[in-house]
Amino acid sequence: MLIRDYALSDLPYLYDICLRTGDSGKDATALYTDPFLVGQYYAAPYAHCDPRSVLILEGELGGVKRPLGYILGTPDTAAYNAWFDRAWRPGAAALYGEGPEKSALEKSLRALFSSPLALPDFYADYPGHMHIDLLPEAQGSGWGRKLIDAFSERLRFMGCPGFHLGVGKGNGNGIAFYRRYGMTELGAPDWGYYFGKRLV
Ligand SMILES: CC(C)(COP(=O)(O)OP(=O)(O)OC[C@H]1O[C@@H](n2cnc3c(N)ncnc32)[C@H](O)[C@@H]1OP(=O)(O)O)[C@@H](O)C(=O)NCCC(=O)NCCS
Repeated sequence: MLIRDYALSDLPYLYDICLRTGDSGKDATALYTDPFLVGQYYAAPYAHCDPRSVLILEGELGGVKRPLGYILGTPDTAAYNAWFDRAWRPGAAALYGEGPEKSALEKSLRALFSSPLALPDFYADYPGHMHIDLLPEAQGSGWGRKLIDAFSERLRFMGCPGFHLGVGKGNGNGIAFYRRYGMTELGAPDWGYYFGKRLV
């Protein structure tokens, strides 16, 4: 397996991986009427906003070479939020504001497309943010750690002094991973945890 820059042709795999890890790290396919919904919020916009802050883990699945994971985000959440509100939200809100809801998760995600993005109170020290998802076949072999290391270098190069992430309380594996990686706990809202990493 190898870590490489994002290419435009990786886009369908972002949606696929996002859905197949979208239920607190487990496959969320059965929870969504629309298989693209989760990727429309948590993956694809980042690649459109700034592909430099997307890294791909490439490997083989069933003899086929393809992306097996990604880490993506932004060096500046305020700039990303402004871009999302201007360039992504109007189209997505028109598509997803109303529609069938197969699960509570789908209902809450549909609502997110109509709520403005807010900045966390630790924004000044951790202005970037990230999401990481690996298919089960790529998990547990050290690639998650390597992806965060590579993403840290990329964001440092882009002038970012620190980044944060949110993880739901139902994702015990994700929480254990971030703790083991050595991330700093920044907050514990009722839905989960914020962790962060300083880069300077
Ligand atoms: C969470 C995830 C990114 C971790 O990546 P990974 O490649 O499986 O983790 P790694 O193999 O790099 O593990 C790195 C370290 O964390 C530890 N770790 C990983 N998962 C752990 C767990 N569930 N409990 C305890 N330690 C864990 C490893 O033992 C390893 O420790 P070491 O470096 O000291 O040997 C990956 O499993 C994943 O994508 N899961 C599904 C999607 C998801 O939950 N994403 C996060 C959403 S917020």
